[in-house]
Amino acid sequence: MKVGIYSLGCKVNIYESEFVKDKLSRAGYKIVPFEDKTADIYIINTCSVTNEADRKSRQIINRAKRENKDAIIVVMGCYSQVKPNDIDADIIIGNKDKSKIVELIDNYIKEKKKYKNIYNLREEVIFEDMEIKNFDDHTRAFVKIQDGCNAFCSYCIIPYTRGRIRSKDPEQVINEVTNLVKKGYKEIVLTGIHTGKYGIDLGNINLESLLKKLVKIKGIYRLRLSSIEINEITDGIIELIKNNNIMARHLHIPLQSGSDKILKDMNRCYDVKFFLDRINVIRKEIPNISLTTDLIVGFPGETDKDFHDTIETLKKIEFTKIHTFPYSKRNNTKASLMKNQIDGKIKKDRVKKVLNISKEYELEYYKQFVGSTLEGVTEVTHNGKIMIHTTNFIPVLIGEKVSNNEIKKAKIIKVDKDNVVYGKLI
Ligand code: F3S
Repeated sequence: MKVGIYSLGCKVNIYESEFVKDKLSRAGYKIVPFEDKTADIYIINTCSVTNEADRKSRQIINRAKRENKDAIIVVMGCYSQVKPNDIDADIIIGNKDKSKIVELIDNYIKEKKKYKNIYNLREEVIFEDMEIKNFDDHTRAFVKIQDGCNAFCSYCIIPYTRGRIRSKDPEQVINEVTNLVKKGYKEIVLTGIHTGKYGIDLGNINLESLLKKLVKIKGIYRLRLSSIEINEITDGIIELIKNNNIMARHLHIPLQSGSDKILKDMNRCYDVKFFLDRINVIRKEIPNISLTTDLIVGFPGETDKDFHDTIETLKKIEFTKIHTFPYSKRNNTKASLMKNQIDGKIKKDRVKKVLNISKEYELEYYKQFVGSTLEGVTEVTHNGKIMIHTTNFIPVLIGEKVSNNEIKKAKIIKVDKDNVVYGKLI
């Protein structure tokens, strides 16, 4: 039988979709593109991080039903975890039991009985075992080391969609990374919902000690962290990035706001001064490191002055890239009940201003490398572009033909007005 899988949301969802694909193909199912109208089964791994993510999840579910009305529709992930009753599908699960996908589908085919089972993830303490053996579409492989979040930032639905913190056994992480490295993956990206809290439920390990074990794996070329909170970047992690070439010279550190008042209302665990001080330490130890971030604009009560403070903070930090999102009201969260919700037009305007700043500093960051030689992993994109991805996350467009997943060096020639970096292989 043919299965099409669509994944929305973050790297953790992508990892789990890859795992589901792998499981199904081992069980004899044939994985086809989601666009294939002749698929017998469509699986949608949903996201609920914003209203837009909910809408997109619904849209993709409906699209699957339209593509082939006789197909079996399976919905899983964060949207179905929190809004299972809004969905009509043959199999509905949330963020638990993705590893039982083969059984669930086999049973449905046998019994033709709809299945819906959503667990209370607030009580979930066991990490659901998954292991990726193949990452079909990517030159780098993701490894999920942790699930859940206990932080309850006031705007965020993820503690409700993903439940409490639970970590993967370190030996299993080491095995999974070792096997992927043996298969030839050059870059391993460690992902999680709150990656910096890895190990707090296990007791005898933390992210820093895990990283120190992983960089020793024979043949590993590069290890990247998908995201980490500022207060979880220990001096030991900074030292490791500084002294070990395996660790990518890139950190994605969510700032969310550059105003102390808004950070407090968001229930973030740092203020602007702390954030700036740590950034200074990181930059002093690892000059040229690429720092990227997430930022929410239009959080309830964000005045022009608060937004101005955010802009000033951004100018002090000079991130290479700012992923900015307009605040989106999520059910059950504290912020959804706050007064002074911000008008959509103001949010849009603020997003635009942040994007302009992001573009400006991205260009500045890239320009400093013109004339130098950078090494990276080659990637041939879906639309045929050939690039190398450097340790500091610069996508360098090269003219020469190469195959995927090779280590190459390129001299940086120029950066154009759209911030595209051009290089020449040497
Ligand atoms: Fe979306 Fe769930 Fe990830 S809400 S961003 S898929 S944790």
